Amino acid sequence: CGIVGYIGDKKAAPILFEGLSKLEYRGYDSAGIAVVEKGLLAVEKKEGRLMGLEEVVGDKFTATVGIGHTRWATHGKPSDVNSHPHLDNDGEIAVVHNGIIENYLTLKEMLIEKGHKFQSETDTEVVPHLIKGFYKGDLLEAVKEAVKHLEGAYALVVLHKNEPNRLICVRKDSPLVIGLGSGENFIASDIPAIIQYTKKTLILDDNEIAVVTKDKVEVMDKAGNHVDKKVLTVDWDPEAAEKEGYPHFMLKEILEQPTALRNTLKDRIQGDRVNLDYLNITPEYLKGLRSISIVACGTAYHAGLIGKELIEGLLRIPVEVSVASEFRYRNPLVDEKTLVIVVSQSGETADTLAALRESKRRGAKVLAITNVKGSSVAREADFMFHTVAGPEIAVASTKAYTTQLLGFYLLTLYFGQLLGKEMPKELYSGLKELPVLAQKVINETEKRIESLIKPFEGWGDCFFIGRSLDWHVAEEGALKLKEISYIHAEAYAAGELKHGTLALIEKDIPVIALATQLDVYEKTISNIKEVKAREGYVIALVQEGDTETAKSVDQVLEIPKVPSLLTPILTVLPLQLISYHVAVARGCDVDKPRNLAKSVTVE
Ligand code: G6P
Repeated sequence: CGIVGYIGDKKAAPILFEGLSKLEYRGYDSAGIAVVEKGLLAVEKKEGRLMGLEEVVGDKFTATVGIGHTRWATHGKPSDVNSHPHLDNDGEIAVVHNGIIENYLTLKEMLIEKGHKFQSETDTEVVPHLIKGFYKGDLLEAVKEAVKHLEGAYALVVLHKNEPNRLICVRKDSPLVIGLGSGENFIASDIPAIIQYTKKTLILDDNEIAVVTKDKVEVMDKAGNHVDKKVLTVDWDPEAAEKEGYPHFMLKEILEQPTALRNTLKDRIQGDRVNLDYLNITPEYLKGLRSISIVACGTAYHAGLIGKELIEGLLRIPVEVSVASEFRYRNPLVDEKTLVIVVSQSGETADTLAALRESKRRGAKVLAITNVKGSSVAREADFMFHTVAGPEIAVASTKAYTTQLLGFYLLTLYFGQLLGKEMPKELYSGLKELPVLAQKVINETEKRIESLIKPFEGWGDCFFIGRSLDWHVAEEGALKLKEISYIHAEAYAAGELKHGTLALIEKDIPVIALATQLDVYEKTISNIKEVKAREGYVIALVQEGDTETAKSVDQVLEIPKVPSLLTPILTVLPLQLISYHVAVARGCDVDKPRNLAKSVTVE
């Protein structure tokens, strides 16, 4: 979900809508705002996209203080009444919330016994009621009291009709940022909502409460002790979070990959040495490791699968890769001799953050690969590799993935250097060429996109196959297609197809086959032939100069010749573009696919 708040001299509603529109990627099944209008709380909320709400509100509000919310449903289906803000029975207190109040049923029963009446099925609604119960004329005191009773995760912003000169916010396990203006201040669950107004931010830490007035922000701990906060200046351009004329963020972000790769490489390779000395990781620490554990969700998890192959292949350190939501509940083999690498674009994914904390609790050090510098993951990790991809807005991750892969290459080479291992020289020069080669692959794919997406017409299923690294890229390709086009896609290790899934191959079913790993090339070709023998329609991705594969398949797309280890960053590009164009052709809402959200801050 997305949260915004505004207090100042300007009309609040347009600023809230502007902010929410930048956060819609965090959830978009309903939205709402509350303002203090002529001494009363005025609330509008509505199921559906933000635009619908904006139409209803028009310019009827003149208030200069307000809060807003865009929702991704967890407790209670998307509906007008389940939308935020939620109020107490007297309509005096309005609350927007991100997270899950885990003990809400107990609280709700207790409140109902005391005579409170509830409208919605949400967990959030208990919060304004609880605050109301403690309210004796001072909202801050009431909020402080109420949060003592909350279990679970929350970022809350609270507004009281009798105290329109301040907003109270509080966070635990769910992000909240305060933007500092002059004569006005902003609150948001994420930076894109406020960068067009200010680049100066305060990031709340867990269990901190802030009192935000138009001229001042005061942060305190739960007990009310003052906390000194550092002002963090955001280095993103506001334009970077805009569509800039592209029809979709996803297309913009796919096309930005050469730049994102260049920015992530910048100054990190010097000659034939990777320099990540700022990490302060010592050879002694690395030598003492028994294993590495990579933990992530979604696309970041797929980057981790490639990371494992690189680290095990080049460093010979055992690596385990886990999806974060499984990791912490299976008693993982993690201790002080394990380096845990968490990968997260947003740095706020609740599952990943929980895994990070569990790892630290078990004594491991944590290295984060993340795209957002001030994020929770970035701040709580021991070491941080920043992917310099710039803001990624489309729900389907693209440039974050390729820069995460780049992160794994650089880290592996760097660790190799520290351990005194001989690292393949061609990888250093190969990495430096990737931005240019990525551009070439994008251009080539775009030129041929019509014929590449044609085979998907009318199909509800398809397959992606490959061996070794190609298999893991296939997994990411299948995920991309599923999430935005709603075509069921399955990725298979090419050699495993014959052990079951080949039964599903029928005439003309689309199969994308990756055959860029030279050590298993012949074997992959045999697997492609098995598909062709069942009359599947095969599009193959091969390395330049491969004339052999073309003879057996329906279409071939070449990627420039690079060492086999480096192909994933290039082969994923056509897969992203094919998914994008297939989804557009099917009329799907590419940037905001149904049921999903960009940043999932609930477990
Ligand atoms: C969500 C997004 C995915 C993303 C995953 C992990 O499910 O829809 O695109 O890969 O979260 O996000 P993170 O920010 O931790 O990389």
